[in-house]
Amino acid sequence: MIRVQVPATAANLGPGFDCLGLALELYNTVEFGRIPRGLVIEIEGEGAEGLPRDESNLVYKAARKVFERSGRVPEGLRIKLVNGIPVGRGLGSSASAVIGGIIAANIMCGAGLSPREILALACSLEGHPDNIAPALLGGLIIYTAVEGEISWTKVDLPPGLKAVVAVPDFILSTRDARENLPHMVTLRDAVFNISRAALLVAAIQKGDLSVLGTAMDDKLHQPYRAGLIPGFKKVISAARLAGARGVALSGSGPSLIALADSNFNLIAKVMKETFRESGVKARCMILAPSPVGARALEVL
Ligand code: HSE
Repeated sequence: MIRVQVPATAANLGPGFDCLGLALELYNTVEFGRIPRGLVIEIEGEGAEGLPRDESNLVYKAARKVFERSGRVPEGLRIKLVNGIPVGRGLGSSASAVIGGIIAANIMCGAGLSPREILALACSLEGHPDNIAPALLGGLIIYTAVEGEISWTKVDLPPGLKAVVAVPDFILSTRDARENLPHMVTLRDAVFNISRAALLVAAIQKGDLSVLGTAMDDKLHQPYRAGLIPGFKKVISAARLAGARGVALSGSGPSLIALADSNFNLIAKVMKETFRESGVKARCMILAPSPVGARALEVL
C-alpha cells in the first residue's frame, strides 16, 4: 500500500496572480493498493458525496498518465482518498488530487519521475502552477515558466505567521472565476501589482509583516471577482480591523485568506460573522504554512 499526503494551497495571495502560492497545513491523503482487477475508489471527508468514483476521478486520471508513460498499467487498482481540503473553494483541491495521483502512481509503477518531471506533468494536467508548485514543494513558492522552461524559488517564512482562512459554503469554479478577467490591463495596474508582489515577497522573507496590508492588494483579478463573493470587501476590512496583517482571495476564491501573527481566533470570528451578515455561511480554519509539500507517508 502506498500513502501520499498533499497540502492545501492558497494561490495568488493578492498581487501574485498565477505565480505565487502558499502551502497550508491541511491535507488530502491518497492511498493506492493493488487488487486483482478493476478500479475501486473510496472517498472520505471533503467532497465525498459529489466526487466521481470511476475513471473520471482526477486522482485516477493523473495516475493513469504515469502508468501509461511507464508502460506499466496495473491490472487492478484500489484508491482510497481521505480529503481534508474543501472542494471548489480556492484551496487547491484539484492540484492536490493531481499531485497525489502522480506521486502514488510514480511509486507504484516505479516510473522514476523526478520532482521537475512531476511538476511539469501536473501543470500540464491541472493548469494552475501557483497551486501545483507549492502542493508539491511546500512553503511559499514563486513560479514561472517560459516556453516550457520552469523556474521556481521558495521564500523563507517568518515564525509565527499563520493563515486564517474563511471558507464560504458555496463552490466557485476557477473557470467561472476566470471568465470575467480582462485580457488586457493598463500599465498602471500592472505596475500596481508588480510593486506589491515584490513588496509582499521581500516583506515575508524579512519577517516585516507591517506592510502586508498594502502588499496583499491587487488590481489584476480581485476587482473582477469581488462581485462573485457577497461580503468580499467587508470581510477584508473586518479581518484587518481584528488584527490581520493582510487579506486576499485564496486562489480564485471564494475563500479569503488573512495572514496574521496574532489574534487568530478573533480574526476567524469576525470573518465568519461578517460573511454571515452578508448572507454567506462560512467556516474558518486557522492554518500554519506547510513547510513540506507532498510526501509519501507509507510504502508497504
Ligand atoms: N491563479 C489561479 C487563478 C489560481 O486565480 O485563477 C486558481 O486556483
